[in-house]
Amino acid sequence: MSRDVHVIDHPLVQHKLTLMRKKDTSTKSFRELVHEVSALLAYEITRDMPMQEIEIETPLEQMTSRVIDGKKIVLASILRAGNGFLDGMLQIIPGARVGHIGLYRDPETLQAVEYYFKMPQGMEERDVIVLDPMLATGNSAVAAVDRLKQTNPRSIRFVCLVTCPQGIKTFHDAHPDVPIYTPAIDRGLNDHGYIVPGLGDAGDRIFGTK
Ligand code: URA
Repeated sequence: MSRDVHVIDHPLVQHKLTLMRKKDTSTKSFRELVHEVSALLAYEITRDMPMQEIEIETPLEQMTSRVIDGKKIVLASILRAGNGFLDGMLQIIPGARVGHIGLYRDPETLQAVEYYFKMPQGMEERDVIVLDPMLATGNSAVAAVDRLKQTNPRSIRFVCLVTCPQGIKTFHDAHPDVPIYTPAIDRGLNDHGYIVPGLGDAGDRIFGTK
């Protein structure tokens, strides 16, 4: 199986990510940047979406033209930081449906436990983009995609802002068929499971909770 990792090295994405990494970047700026970056990521992630030809009429004549194939795309946000990607991506894919996946880590077993899961109807005909800014240990991403696969979507892609080799390995050991889209693969994880050098706690930085 493929274990695809797409590194999105577009200069606009890299520039904005650098600003987001800086510790002095304010909540307001961070939120604006995540909005801008997520729109650019949506553009890259949808590059190879399957298309179909339909017949339309321009004001002048009939023609065959292309649209994205199948039912509307699903943006599946892993709570809570995944929600930071939503507005920017919906700007580029305004018809997308939105699903939410809530997981917490059981302090005893350290396993991801689901507390919320809501996806649209008709998942069998939909392509899903899973949103989580930080693919760190990979445990919650694996659990989220495990659960998502129970709905039998047509395809799944995973997008983050920053990841590291451990996160990629854990994720692809469990889900080699799910491509990862990321602007950055950082050095590794610290003792608290944070990506280094990273950008800190993405949820706290988006929502200003620290
Ligand atoms: N979650 C975050 O928000 N940041 C990290 O570095 C790792 C996990």
